Amino acid sequence: MIIVIKKIVCDTYDELCLTAADVFTEQLKKKPDSVLGLATGETALGLYDELISRYNAGKVDFSKAQSFNLDEYYPIDPEHRQSYVYYMKENFFDKVNLAKYQLPDGMATDPDAEGIRFDEEIDKAGGIDLIVLGIGHNGHIGFNEPAPSYYFGTHLEDLAESSITANSRFFEADEVQPTKALTMGMGTIFKAKKIIQLVSGAGKAEIVKRVSDGMIHTDIPTSLLHLHPDMTMIVDKKANGE
Ligand code: GLP
Repeated sequence: MIIVIKKIVCDTYDELCLTAADVFTEQLKKKPDSVLGLATGETALGLYDELISRYNAGKVDFSKAQSFNLDEYYPIDPEHRQSYVYYMKENFFDKVNLAKYQLPDGMATDPDAEGIRFDEEIDKAGGIDLIVLGIGHNGHIGFNEPAPSYYFGTHLEDLAESSITANSRFFEADEVQPTKALTMGMGTIFKAKKIIQLVSGAGKAEIVKRVSDGMIHTDIPTSLLHLHPDMTMIVDKKANGE
């Protein structure tokens, strides 16, 4: 059996965050004006905390770097505390000196045009140098949900029931949870020069096992990442089923 995906197994979630932060730190040392691709979700929080600590200690500098986020709910007010722009400001942007950041606009009147505009902005910036991904329990990346075919570019996606359920823990009972999102497409993600994917916890062990068989499963978006020339999965032992 050939396993093409590169996988780093860390003992703990903390070690996973340090390992991911090392990749970002190296990237910014090598290319201070890097274009970064960023993810939301619980798993990325420890990475952002570690990068903020390193920034405060003068070990990493974002002043020449810019970022593009993978996705944003649609429609959603940017002031809504569950919007991804709010999450990013709270957990990262307001705490480091990143030169510029962009997310798909969750209030865009024409979401199709917004997708095209967003991809053009990425191209204008020179393309993404390093992107960090999480993974959905169903194998989604960004918000590209399992389907017989995938969009290349940033587009409006109907969220899978399981993704809506998984993310419902963040919404109060009286809040309307969006059922759609603007997400980078598979092509947008694949054009990134380097990809790291963070996976933590026993709850993700099943999906990690499913994509660790060296096969490309067309119904598991994340398994297409096997085809990327510079993709590393960084998992903790629990997610690795140990
Ligand atoms: C959301 C995001 C994904 C992220 C996923 C995992 O669905 N759209 O980009 O990978 O959450 O989140 P968590 O790390 O909380 O499991």
